[in-house]
Amino acid sequence: MIDEIVECFASVPEGVVVDATFGLGGHAVAILNAYPNLQILGLDQDADAIANAERLIAEDSSLQGRLTVRRVRFDSLDEVLEELSINEISGALFDLGVSSPQLDVAERGFSYRHEGPLDMRMDQRSQLSAAEVVNNYDESELSRLIADNADEKFARRIAKAIVAARPITTTTQLAEVIVAAIPAPARRTGGHPAKRTFQAIRIEVNKELEILERALQIAIDATKSGGRVAVLTYHSGENRIVKRVFSDSERDANESTHASPYVHESQSGVRRTRRVRAPKYPSSKEQTLNRRAKSARMRVIEKTLVEVGN
Ligand SMILES: C[S@@+](CC[C@H](N)C(=O)[O-])C[C@H]1O[C@@H](n2cnc3c(N)ncnc32)[C@H](O)[C@@H]1O
Repeated sequence: MIDEIVECFASVPEGVVVDATFGLGGHAVAILNAYPNLQILGLDQDADAIANAERLIAEDSSLQGRLTVRRVRFDSLDEVLEELSINEISGALFDLGVSSPQLDVAERGFSYRHEGPLDMRMDQRSQLSAAEVVNNYDESELSRLIADNADEKFARRIAKAIVAARPITTTTQLAEVIVAAIPAPARRTGGHPAKRTFQAIRIEVNKELEILERALQIAIDATKSGGRVAVLTYHSGENRIVKRVFSDSERDANESTHASPYVHESQSGVRRTRRVRAPKYPSSKEQTLNRRAKSARMRVIEKTLVEVGN
């Protein structure tokens, strides 16, 4: 959805757009190429993504001075803004989930297709890995997280099978245990039968849903008038959180008083956050080219400063 993302920042005021999930930098570079008045602050918690970004900057002089990167989890955005003395941003982009290199490199342990260690850490410095979740969580915790993080209806059976098969050391061994726990007729629909459980474990390892709300709120708070926050989600857990945070912001904008940064237009107020776009779905062309795009949803809100005379 690169064109939609680029277009979404066409109207934002000049300044810094935060790319909270830099990855390979595809979106960030497209935004920089399209809008000479914007700079990007790119965040990623993955050492490889940041090393790649630093290589990009070193090799392309047009990015120097316009692209700054930091290796942090995106809920530390407020600290990075403070460090860089950035008071307000022009917008932010969150392209959630894993990157292609994380999925494709077997040693990262994200993929049920390639044999690798049970890792799944986006941030290689963190303590919690998939091996810990798979081999040490109790059955009820496993069952709950598989159900909650991936809407997997066979969560209890899968959790039971995982506990019975411990110790599990590789991704493919885990995938086999999951597949065997799912009734044969259900294995034939809905993609690879281990996909949802791998997603659920990855979300637990990286605390993906726990930190999303705070990160979005920091971004919305820091966004200046006319700025936009855009989020690409890939599954229902993320989607629910983004919908809730955006609609809470919209409601706060309509209900709050002068004490809040969000004040309704009809009061003497100033700032108002509102949703400007319904979710977008990828084009059918993109769905054919990119399997991951199939489940993508794009949500955008814009923050406006409303001048009210006396
Ligand atoms: C889907 S990819 C982003 C792809 C990127 N938009 C591009 O054009 O290449 C997600 C990236 O965000 C990073 N990421 C995910 N959650 C994060 C978080 N909470 N904090 C920082 N980085 C995160 C991942 O490490 C991964 O590199």
